[in-house]
Amino acid sequence: MQLREMTENDLPPVLELQRELAFQDWNEKQFLSEIRASYAYCVVCEDDGGSPNGDTSRALLGYAIFHLLGSDSELLSIATRTSEQRKGIGSQLLKAGLNKLTESEDQCFLEVRKGNVKARAFYEKHGFKQYNVRKNYYSDGEDAILYVFKNAPTA
Ligand SMILES: CC(C)(COP(=O)(O)OP(=O)(O)OC[C@H]1O[C@@H](n2cnc3c(N)ncnc32)[C@H](O)[C@@H]1OP(=O)(O)O)[C@@H](O)C(=O)NCCC(=O)NCCS
Repeated sequence: MQLREMTENDLPPVLELQRELAFQDWNEKQFLSEIRASYAYCVVCEDDGGSPNGDTSRALLGYAIFHLLGSDSELLSIATRTSEQRKGIGSQLLKAGLNKLTESEDQCFLEVRKGNVKARAFYEKHGFKQYNVRKNYYSDGEDAILYVFKNAPTA
């Protein structure tokens, strides 16, 4: 299992993973603009590849997209293939982005559907704190819960 930056070649499996999880509806153009944006950090996790029949292709296990905007960063998207969840992949992807926070005042923001219990437990495990709610934020009327991770909270 290894992490590396996302490239345009990753788009087919990234789109397939997004479809599998049905948690977001970005099109190819949106992913492309993230990959090309200087302020975006797009990371994938892939398996080690290789099989007895000589196939060295590596499967995409997960991905995450961050915006690194000075002291205020944002996690836009994170996903782990269903069959690979609860194995620490999401944590590795998240930490890769949080490791880009270097200064004590740096923060990482995100929003998540109120009913996304899995993701909320995941973020809370990693030290994200809820700081606000946006009522009826999503097109289906669901609330968004806003979380922030503070790199080094002041006492
Ligand atoms: C959220 C998500 C990325 C987590 O990925 P993951 O690879 O399963 O995460 P990890 O294995 O690193 O989990 C770390 C911790 O998060 C919490 N967690 C993860 N999945 C959980 C679940 N189903 N229920 C409760 N807690 C959960 C646990 O504390 C877990 O630690 P543990 O396994 O030691 O108990 C994954 O569930 C996912 O892809 N969900 C669908 C897409 C999505 O909703 N993305 C977020 C919105 S943008």
